[in-house]
Amino acid sequence: MLSILEATLRYHICNMRRSLYYSRSLGFEIIGGIDMKVLVTGNLPDDVAAPLNEQFEVSLHGQDKPMAPDAILAGVNAADGLLCMITDTVDAELLDSAPNLKMVANFGVGYNNIDVAAATDRGIMVTNTPGVLTDATADLAMALILAVGRRVVEGDQHTRKGAFKFWAPYYFLGHEISGKTLGIVGMGRIGEAVARRAKGFDMPLLYHNRNRLPVDREQVLGVRYVDLQTLLQQSDFVSLHVPLTSETQHMIGPQELEAMKPSAFLINTSRGPVVDEGALLTALHEKKIGGAGLDVYENEPVLTPGLGLLDNVVLLPHMGSATEETRRRMGAMAVENMVAGLKGKTPPNIVNPEVLEKST
Ligand code: DGY
Repeated sequence: MLSILEATLRYHICNMRRSLYYSRSLGFEIIGGIDMKVLVTGNLPDDVAAPLNEQFEVSLHGQDKPMAPDAILAGVNAADGLLCMITDTVDAELLDSAPNLKMVANFGVGYNNIDVAAATDRGIMVTNTPGVLTDATADLAMALILAVGRRVVEGDQHTRKGAFKFWAPYYFLGHEISGKTLGIVGMGRIGEAVARRAKGFDMPLLYHNRNRLPVDREQVLGVRYVDLQTLLQQSDFVSLHVPLTSETQHMIGPQELEAMKPSAFLINTSRGPVVDEGALLTALHEKKIGGAGLDVYENEPVLTPGLGLLDNVVLLPHMGSATEETRRRMGAMAVENMVAGLKGKTPPNIVNPEVLEKST
């Protein structure tokens, strides 16, 4: 632990260095040369990493297994840029141990792993990878809707273990998807993409969002705005597409689960802590809801004990954006953000643009 005096001194020295960087980047001096160092805490295909390797000194973790927090802390010490994974916690302590750091480029659209306020405070740019994973994530939400509704995983396991002995009219019945109401919580890019897909399945669509969409947009998407309570009461499937913030943490807790139909399914491809997983387990046990399709967990990758024993849940390992195409695009976008930021340009996907105003 740093003493308060040491931490304060470090903080001011870092900000002075960064101000110097920004004032140079706004002038005519060429910055962002090969002497700049970038730490990548994950793996990137060679061609995706090439723009980084050509322009900076890169230290690549090069593995899927997350880099140990201590190793990141040590590695970031000399870094000008950090290209991190959503599994890395980028907090004030880490930022203070990186006196030269100017850029944190997250490999992911959700950036709840980064203390953006602390980064902004220290003049550090933060970027994410929006848009490129919309379709892949929406596809997976639909896959979960179909899988829990039609008992796809259960059926697969049953067949593999040799339990499929005969066809029968009332064997392995699931729930029809067509005609069932889908409630979309969070109508951003991914929520909209789910709506477009669900429309193809003839599902009536409700949505709830912090801000209501313009009416013409609602008409194009075929969605009806309702408050959260109404959405929970009327939907057969509830699909979550909100970012994790202090407002959305445990947005779905005991009362919300109680409000859902006993036959309804909860789908979560957003962030685990949006759902109170203990309350979900109780609701599933007590048959307060019909089931759940989860790609994310409250204490990821650890599951609440008992969740994995239930038949009416489908559990996936946070693979919403895990397609070859999308992960390449996410890597390329994070790299593009990093190069722009370290070369003194505004990164295309900056989430704290106020940092640039602060530095001028
Ligand atoms: C993201 O980008 O936030 C996704 O959760 C990664 O799969």
